[in-house]
This record gives sequence, structure tokens and C-alpha cells, in this order.
Amino acid sequence: MGLNDQWMQRDLAVLWHPCTQMKDHERLPLIPIKRGEGVWLEDFEGKRYLDAVSSWWVNVFGHANPRINQRLKDQLEQLEHVMLAGFSHPPVIELSERLVQITPAGLDRVFYADNGSSGIEVALKMSFHYWRNCGQDGKKRFVTLSNSYHGETVAAMSVGDVALFTETYKPLLLDTLKVPSPDCYYRPEGMGWEEHSRNMFAHMEQCLAAHHREVAAVIVEPLIQGAGGMRMYHPVYLKLLREACDRYGVHLIHDEIAVGFGRTGTMFACEQAGITPDFLVLSKALTGGYLPMAAVLTTDTVYQAFYDDYDTLRAFLHSHTYTGNPLACVAALATLDIFAEDNVIAANQALATKMASATAHLAEHPHVAEVRQTGMALAIEMVQDKASKTAYPWQERRGLQVFQHALSRGALLRPLGSVVYFLPPYVITPEQIDFLATVATEGIDLATRSAVSVAVSNFHPNHRDPG
Ligand SMILES: Cc1ncc(COP(=O)(O)O)c(C=O)c1O
Repeated sequence: MGLNDQWMQRDLAVLWHPCTQMKDHERLPLIPIKRGEGVWLEDFEGKRYLDAVSSWWVNVFGHANPRINQRLKDQLEQLEHVMLAGFSHPPVIELSERLVQITPAGLDRVFYADNGSSGIEVALKMSFHYWRNCGQDGKKRFVTLSNSYHGETVAAMSVGDVALFTETYKPLLLDTLKVPSPDCYYRPEGMGWEEHSRNMFAHMEQCLAAHHREVAAVIVEPLIQGAGGMRMYHPVYLKLLREACDRYGVHLIHDEIAVGFGRTGTMFACEQAGITPDFLVLSKALTGGYLPMAAVLTTDTVYQAFYDDYDTLRAFLHSHTYTGNPLACVAALATLDIFAEDNVIAANQALATKMASATAHLAEHPHVAEVRQTGMALAIEMVQDKASKTAYPWQERRGLQVFQHALSRGALLRPLGSVVYFLPPYVITPEQIDFLATVATEGIDLATRSAVSVAVSNFHPNHRDPG
């Protein structure tokens, strides 16, 4: 038995993996990783995989980045952790100062959680609690977009709409209001992204007009609905939404957990709409992909509604044990230094252009409905029928075939259902982008070769197989 197999057997004897039907591993090998370097992950038998999805969208400057490593080593000698209630430390103070500085004007307070879903819980609870502290107890519902994803904890699932993740738990979820997404994949033939996104705003306007008295906040994934299949829309929607939230007295929560830190082409997606949300939730690339942490930025107005004598019971008594962990903070500080020192956002423009040119030919593929891109995120949607955009039945798991082919070629491309996408670390080279495009083309050819199996029934269009 090879080393990979040995680790796999030990793993499968004791672990339960995330987002996985464990029975799949009776036929799909699990890949134990020994080390990482730059865009590469390497298994125990020396095979390398180009990490095209940044390990679930967290990595921005490569695995085992020497600059981030050094900061972590230095911090380890000083302080690994201290509770943040009643105590503080330089890394968390410096990181908070930096985040306030680089995010849109008006976001002046930072609250920490230790993963993205928990960050969403913080924003939802804070918004609800703000209105309560202001004497508006009736504002307790949240508005969300169809096909959105905000994490796996119960309130985060409640504001999500990817059936695969939420359907089972429906009886547990909060009562939210769902508005059709501005997703431009469904725009009428010949219509541009801006016009479609603007038109789709009518649904949001209607919802807010009818329900604003009972609504605490609208929550969106700005510009890209990630787990919903890398579906994209125009910034004009965010601008209209900001104006409407102001008009109706409703908070705007931007979940930039996936899209923050340059994924959309700007440091934060909200910059493209020129707006400041009431809550900005960051995680994933915040620490360069090193350690779990989330930051929730909000305004002084929100902060002041909680600031009072203890016995008024207006405080936000929410805590996560590892809040503001110093190691995560220095990883984040080192990441922000690299963004600044290497002028990364500007340099990424050339990489984004290269991603577009390397995959342009796929738009002509008979089973590709669309190749779409926003900044450093590029998605290729495989379909059964190109003209009608008829999706493949989810049970056929066409994306899984792309994933398996890519692994055999040395790439980690993990599609979302039938959507193959690139969301690479920013240290990828133009040659590596060409390699990914070749592998993706081969994988798509292979996965779309056979006709739809007649045995498949029970088609559920909003059921995304994670791969
Ligand atoms: C937009 C968005 N929000 C929230 C989350 C949840 O983050 P976490 O997995 O760290 O809980 C994710 C994770 O993919 C995400 O993409």
C-alpha cells in the first residue's frame, strides 16, 4: 500500500469530512496533502495539484508564503492567544486600525468572530439588537436574495437559498423574505448586465415597500453569488439597494466573506458601487488563508446604540472563544502588507485579462452556456442544451467528472454542480492559467460527451452538487 493509501485508510477510519457524502470515498480516493508551496499542493507520493480554487477561496498569496510564515513564527514567540474580553494585544489593535483605514468611510468599529458563518450571525444579531435598542422591536426579519449563500449555522442558513444546503433544515430556520436575485445568467437575450440588474431591483423595491417596518436588514453577497454557482450581477444593484435601505430605514449587510480582498477586481466589492454598507463581513482571505477568523465592521451609529450603563442591558453580549486570536491577526496583517507592498490589486488586472483570454474559446463549446467573469473569479457553466440553458440533472454529477479529470492532470478544480470555475491565488502565473484552461477544456469535453441518462428523474433545478 502506498503512502497516500495508508493516510487515506487512517483518515477514513476516524474522520467525517465537510460537505461530503462519506460513501463516495468507497470509489473516490481522498487526497492526503503533505505540503504546500505557492499555488501547489503536494501529496505523499510527490504528485502536485495546482490549487485553482484557493482551498475553498481562502488563499491569496500561496501556500506556505515565507512572508506570512515569518510573521507567524515571530508572533508565536510572543503570545499565542489571550481572551479578548477585558484584555487586548497589539496585533488585534493594529489589524482593527488597518481594516477601518482600508474599508469604505464610515465603517469605524470592528467586532471579531472565528469563521465566516459566525461573522454572519454577529451581523444579523447586531442589526436586530440595534433596532431593539432603538425601541423598534418589530424589526426582526431579514431580506435575502434567491440563490444566496451565507454559511451553515442556523441563522446563516436562514438567509441562504441553496436548496442542497438548507432544504433538510427548513423546519429550524428563521422566517426570512426572499427576493429574486439580479443574477445576470438569466438576463433576456441581448440585454446587458447593468440593465438586467437594474430591472431586477424592482422586486427588492416592492419587498421593502411592503415589509420595511418588520425588516431589520437586507443581506447580500455583493457582485458574485459564490456557492450558488459563481452567479454574477452589476454594481448598480448595490447602489440602488443602498439608496432603498436608506429610504426605508433598513440596514444593509454586505457579506464579503468570499468576495473581499480583491476577488472582484477591487479590494472590496462595495467600492465598485461607491457605497458603504451598515455591516461589512470579512473572513476567508482576511488571514491570507492561514487561520480561521472573521471581522464584522460597522458604523459608529450602530456602536453608539449599544454604548450605555451596564444595567441598561443594551450591550452586545456575544462572544466566540477565539475572538481576535493574535496568530490570526498577524497572518491578516502580513497579508495586508503584501497587498500594499506589491500593489496586488493593480497587478491582478493582467491576470484577470489572461484568465479571460485563456478561456474565451469555451464560450463556443456546444455544452457551455456562458463563460462569465468578475475580476479574479471566472466561471464556466456547463449545460445539457446551450440554446435553452437547460441544466444537466444534478444526479449525473458532471462537475465531478471535471474534478476527477483535473486531479489526474495535477489541478484542484472543484466545480459547483455543473459550474467549473477559477478562483486562484494571486501568485498564479500566466503559464499556470494556460495550464488550468487546458485542463478545464479537457474536463468539460469529457464530462459533456455522453447524452443525458434517461434513468435520471426527480430533477431539482436548485440542487447543486458540491462536486
Ligand atoms: C459568501 C459566504 N458567506 C459565508 C460563508 C461561510 O463561511 P465559513 O465557511 O467560514 O463559515 C461562505 C463560505 O463559503 C461564503 O462563501
